[in-house]
Amino acid sequence: MDGHVVDTDLRRAAVWPGLRAVLPAPDPRAVIIDAGGGSGGFAVPIAAAGHAVTVVDPSPDALAALRRRAAERGLAERITAVQGDLGDLVGLVGAGRAQVLLCHSVLEVVDDPPSALAEALRVLRPGGALSLVVPGAAAAVVRHAVAGRVDEALAALLDEGPRPRGVPRRYSTAGIATLVRAAGAEVLEVHGVRIFADLVPAERRADPGAAERLLRLELAAARHPALRDLAAQLHVLARRPGPGPAPPSLSASSSLPSSVLSSSAPAGGSGAGGR
Ligand SMILES: C[S@@+](CC[C@H](N)C(=O)[O-])C[C@H]1O[C@@H](n2cnc3c(N)ncnc32)[C@H](O)[C@@H]1O
Repeated sequence: MDGHVVDTDLRRAAVWPGLRAVLPAPDPRAVIIDAGGGSGGFAVPIAAAGHAVTVVDPSPDALAALRRRAAERGLAERITAVQGDLGDLVGLVGAGRAQVLLCHSVLEVVDDPPSALAEALRVLRPGGALSLVVPGAAAAVVRHAVAGRVDEALAALLDEGPRPRGVPRRYSTAGIATLVRAAGAEVLEVHGVRIFADLVPAERRADPGAAERLLRLELAAARHPALRDLAAQLHVLARRPGPGPAPPSLSASSSLPSSVLSSSAPAGGSGAGGR
């Protein structure tokens, strides 16, 4: 790795430590599902680390891009692309089979998030892990205010008015934790993702050194309770109850592994997902 951080890394970087902590050691028999995985922003690096990943996504274009990226990286055999919806997961991949279910930046756009998540969780085996990323509610207030859109900031704060068509839902930390529990999972941790990345002007994070320092700040702040709640995205790690390995020590994942500084793959960690 060259140590350089491109913007995509910065926007995703704070997801990797928690995700690494719930991924099992690479094993071709392990079942990892990326629901709404799109063109493989997470699935491709996970496959590059030695895992087999099944991406389920309704978009044929995203799946075509995923297949192209997988082929370009020599990972076609490790990535299975399946067209389908969050609500179809059990029918597509079977119930109770997966060690890890990723659901990143999807729940906020589905029609009925509580029932879609409850249905999706059925693919996890007991003890299997959920990695969920959703937009944070407080971030919208801060971003409107910083841009001088004070009325919009106040409306977002008071959660007033109907949600305009096409605008994704946003969640507070407490709200998403409640939703995950109601869907039947135990919440292990909630991290903030992109607490500062969107607030720092592009020209101030242009050079790799600045971006890397900002990344260190992001990772250090990810679990700070007050700062986490301001994040553009909330990363929830949860677990389907039942026998299986104890939840991992997620605190061990809060250090800064060098691999998150590049677009290279994360190494597999010990897993809540079990075998
Ligand atoms: C913002 S992209 C996120 C892609 C990827 N998870 C990531 O974080 O990089 C949202 C993805 O969700 C997919 N999607 C939209 N509605 C969905 C649904 N009902 N079920 C599953 N995926 C859906 C879209 O096709 C798109 O690929």
